[in-house]
Amino acid sequence: PLVPMNELLADAVARDYTVVQFNTDCIEITQSFLRTAEEYAAPIIVGVGQGAVKDGKIAPIAAMLRDYCARSKLPVCLHLDHSEDPDQIMQALRAGFTSIMIDGSARPLAENIEVTNHVLGLCRPLGVSVEAELGRIPGVEDDMVVTEEQANKVDLAVVEEFVSNVSVDALAVAVGSAHGIYKAEPKLDFELLAQLVGVTDTPLVLHGGSGIPDTALRKAFGMGMKKLNVGTELRLGFLRGVHAGVEAGDSIYACFERGRKIVDGLVLSKLEVSGSAGKA
Ligand code: G3H
Ligand code: ZN
Repeated sequence: PLVPMNELLADAVARDYTVVQFNTDCIEITQSFLRTAEEYAAPIIVGVGQGAVKDGKIAPIAAMLRDYCARSKLPVCLHLDHSEDPDQIMQALRAGFTSIMIDGSARPLAENIEVTNHVLGLCRPLGVSVEAELGRIPGVEDDMVVTEEQANKVDLAVVEEFVSNVSVDALAVAVGSAHGIYKAEPKLDFELLAQLVGVTDTPLVLHGGSGIPDTALRKAFGMGMKKLNVGTELRLGFLRGVHAGVEAGDSIYACFERGRKIVDGLVLSKLEVSGSAGKA
């Protein structure tokens, strides 16, 4: 069934594991998350990024994904990722998302607090969960590009001020990961993470989960990262499978299945390292 994100995160806090958000670009990729999550009994978040909802697709995509998620035997959350726009969030609420991210990280702190509180006012009466972001994560996610110069790790005092003014269900923090393909090995700032965990009980979210070695992920999860977002690895894996199928002269559906099989393996690896396999 479809559930809000706060239910999944509360269980992850209580039973000491991390929930994974898998971002989808097409229904075939979603089928892979859902079947793998069911097979390994893991609660998951289906993330819908800005690329997936472009060109007026928010309502039709949500209708299809809601139907798929609702059929799952396991708890699944349908989450709108990296929205910067309250009007788009209104559309997402009408379309039936159970969780949304208001990414105010490009705004000055006072404005980020204001827009996040505004979005909370829209979501709370409907029981929809809210994720916010502090610091700026570098890299490329669909049309969102944050250069190394624009990026900055989260500031401890900013987090303290934010959480004393806003009560969100999850907080994305920039601690050294990046969106998209890494040019060099990512260096997570574990010292900063330890300080963050010391100043807030809000479940923290690690974005840019693709390409982070399992050892670093395990350490971050052990220190209290309660949600991991993964996108790029899956879309590249899916395309690799489809491409191999095209080269082999397969039918379109056989190409999709090759793509899904690769995504299944990537999803399973994240479910295992997060400790969420077997928790649903
Ligand atoms: O919000 C989406 C995630 O942060 C995904 O990042 O594409 O680098 O895995 P990624
Ligand atoms: Zn992200």
